[in-house]
Amino acid sequence: MAEAKSLEVDLAGLKMSNPVILASGIMGTTPGGLARVAREGAGGVTTKSLGPEPREGHPAPNVVKVTAGYLNAMGLPNPGVEEYAGELEEVELEATVFGSIFAHDSEEFSRVARVMEPTVDALELNLSCPHAESLGAAIGTRPPLVEEIVSSVVREVNIPVFAKLTPNVSDITEIGRAAETAGADGVVAINTLPGMAIDVETERPILGNRSGGLSGPAIHPVAVKSAYDLYEAISIPIVGVGGIESGEDVVETMLAGATAVQVGTAIADRGMGVFRELNSWLADYLDSHQVELSELIGAAHDY
Ligand SMILES: Cc1cc2nc3c(=O)[nH]c(=O)nc-3n(C[C@H](O)[C@H](O)[C@H](O)COP(=O)(O)O)c2cc1C
Repeated sequence: MAEAKSLEVDLAGLKMSNPVILASGIMGTTPGGLARVAREGAGGVTTKSLGPEPREGHPAPNVVKVTAGYLNAMGLPNPGVEEYAGELEEVELEATVFGSIFAHDSEEFSRVARVMEPTVDALELNLSCPHAESLGAAIGTRPPLVEEIVSSVVREVNIPVFAKLTPNVSDITEIGRAAETAGADGVVAINTLPGMAIDVETERPILGNRSGGLSGPAIHPVAVKSAYDLYEAISIPIVGVGGIESGEDVVETMLAGATAVQVGTAIADRGMGVFRELNSWLADYLDSHQVELSELIGAAHDY
């Protein structure tokens, strides 16, 4: 009998047991949540985005279910990087840990990165939150700012740095190129798309922040095209994210060009067992197609 194919993956030098990573903002609000997801079989886990100071976020309601996904406007609530990093130090995690951070400018990003560095394996710079004024996508839509922030963090730390990109631009590859030029070790694509839901009885927007970010199956084709376009444009690894719910979605995103994937919203609908389910489907796929995991990356470009 042929030996089972390995799900191990090398992501910018990070040796992961499998390519399925918890996305930022879901279950990663506390280090305990990350530990739970790691025990459920995720190859990597990403913290909630952490900033320089504690932050309350937007008024409720923060999440609303819509057709084929969710709208959320959390507003980056978090206890501040010092407190979170202190708690994270106490927790043993059996997965590669990505520390997601946000800040207003390159100096502040570097400061937050320094605090986070000792407790994580890699950093993910949130340059893409669509519903926090002057943060996230307000930065990540401007290539010169992306370049400045990424290069300042890369100079500051000795662990891999990933830039998380917004799809809310006319050409995502410009932002990807800016991150690569600045020395990023990889990019994560995509964050949510802006959206709104209105209650027809109250005649008011449902979310406390009025509008929010769309996630889930509705955005999956956007994530696939983003990974595909980035693969043509840059040489650093791509982490694909957006509406990944099934093993097919994982393989599709890798064929587009992703080395690994992240899963967020699927946990809300499918529970934490989704990590084992995706990996088990992936293992069966590799076996039945007699292909190595690394051979999938970007294979859809080969014709
Ligand atoms: C409730 C919620 C909170 C999120 N918080 C963050 C966050 O703090 N930082 C970040 O970079 N992305 C955040 N995201 C975006 C996800 O990490 C991911 O990019 C997006 O949801 C698309 O993936 P999905 O369709 O698998 O959820 C959040 C998403 C949701 C649904």
